[in-house]
Amino acid sequence: MTVSPAVAEAARRRTFAVISHPDAGKSTLTEALALHARVINEAGHIHGKAGRRSTVSDWMDIEKARGISISSAALQFGYGDAVVNLVDTPGHADFSEDTYRVLAAVDSAVMLVDAAKGMEPQTLKLFEVCRHRRIPVLTVINKWDRPGHEALALMDEVYAKTGLKPTPLTWPVGIAGDFRGVLDRRTGKFVQFTRTAGGATLAVQQVMSAEEALAAHGDAWLTAVEESELLSADDADLDLDGYLAHRKTPVLFGSAVLNFGVAQLLDALLELAPAPGAREDEGGKPRPVDGPFSGFVFKIQAGMDSAHRDRLAYIRVCSGVFERGAVVTHAASKKPFATKYAQQVFGQNRETVDLAYPGDVVGLVNASMLRVGDSLYVDEHVAFPPIPSFAPEHFAVARSMDSGRYKQFRRGIEQLEQEGVVQVLRSDLRGDQAPVLAAVGPMQFEVATHRMKGEMGAEITLDRLPYSLARRTTREWVAELDRQSGVEVMLRGDGEWLALFADPWRLGRTQRDFPDAVLEPLVASADTM
Ligand code: G4P
Repeated sequence: MTVSPAVAEAARRRTFAVISHPDAGKSTLTEALALHARVINEAGHIHGKAGRRSTVSDWMDIEKARGISISSAALQFGYGDAVVNLVDTPGHADFSEDTYRVLAAVDSAVMLVDAAKGMEPQTLKLFEVCRHRRIPVLTVINKWDRPGHEALALMDEVYAKTGLKPTPLTWPVGIAGDFRGVLDRRTGKFVQFTRTAGGATLAVQQVMSAEEALAAHGDAWLTAVEESELLSADDADLDLDGYLAHRKTPVLFGSAVLNFGVAQLLDALLELAPAPGAREDEGGKPRPVDGPFSGFVFKIQAGMDSAHRDRLAYIRVCSGVFERGAVVTHAASKKPFATKYAQQVFGQNRETVDLAYPGDVVGLVNASMLRVGDSLYVDEHVAFPPIPSFAPEHFAVARSMDSGRYKQFRRGIEQLEQEGVVQVLRSDLRGDQAPVLAAVGPMQFEVATHRMKGEMGAEITLDRLPYSLARRTTREWVAELDRQSGVEVMLRGDGEWLALFADPWRLGRTQRDFPDAVLEPLVASADTM
């Protein structure tokens, strides 16, 4: 029997994201992975920070000024016979909703931990998303070239904070700050690393027998062997099913900046991480990878390039083969959609994509009808589950600074809403001239203001509102709740009625006064992130 191209291509793909706290080394690791796969010859091409080399993925001025990356894209590279899709996640907690959407598009995640800092808050929040979505997690302990915690203590911390039992694949030889190499726990061999300048070239590594390692590294080697035996006695050896079932996390040690451990990570991804598989639709029915083409939008990005003013809808291919130029159906409107302009984007590098397979990410250019969460398909209808909007915690009234530019103002706000930059709430009371922008993190407001001025040609002022909590309610409760002081009900773009409260006390009181009122929690960033 011949295997369909979609099945064969899906099997050799690994689509993953790196989750970490800012500064743990995500950009450095991305560079190192790409470097190792020889996509680029020189580190520094992919990402830069304020004051560092010119940036490629830092499109917006805010990103440049703050040294953060808000924009997401996917980097694809070949590695041996495999194709690796690394989907970028925004680094800042204020964009956690974006990250949540990105994580809807991957099959596994790499949790990057700074050896000196351990499990940091943003890593944990992102980990919670992986748990929620049951995404298998591989852990990399980074910066082992610098002083840090003890390896066993880090394993305890990972276990205590994530509930995933660490099952190290490699174990460091030499304490943090004195990194000689790693013990490959499955072969018992020593992989020796040799420092290369600033990660600018491929790391040199040499595999040695246990005897050779003992002769070369004495006590450091013996300690590693002893600790590895302790781990085995504690049932901390690789367990593939446990990893896939989100009970265990294989662990690697490395130094992204020195390219140490990068080869091990790529090999582990190929060996262990799941390839794209059947994806369930909103009714729970799986769409097999060899079905007709289907995919969903997980990210809309506009304003990446002020010279072009374009808008890209990133889709993750779920089944079949994406062929540029094909006419697909937009599940929400049932309208045909011609995929004439399809690109792969990472940073400023754009390439036309003619064919894409399950697991791949394709940017559709100027697909103005597409919204985050929308499904596209060929032949057989499919709608994938919607990506939930988070409970906003920050609210501000937006007004156009120039009443003569109201049209631009309205169009701009609509566009930001479609892209999911902010949520937009409306009410009869406030009217169309004064929509309320709602955000998970206040930096979303900065992005909105910046984009309105720079791209939409409508400068806005934002007046913060004194609410901090939102609950979902129903139409019949709107009038009653609205009458309460310190409570306001507004309609969100997705059709949900949100009751806004100043604080938990006010919410509690309303619940006591109206025990029958529908006041349901929304997907909260704290629960899921
Ligand atoms: P991020 O994307 O996760 O925010 O982190 P990024 O890669 O930008 O790395 C943050 C800092 O940590 C950078 O230093 C980077 O060089 C350093 N770093 C990353 N991996 C390692 C590692 O394995 N070992 C050591 N010692 N450092 C590492 P920086 O001072 O902010 O920038 P730079 O001037 O060094 O480029």
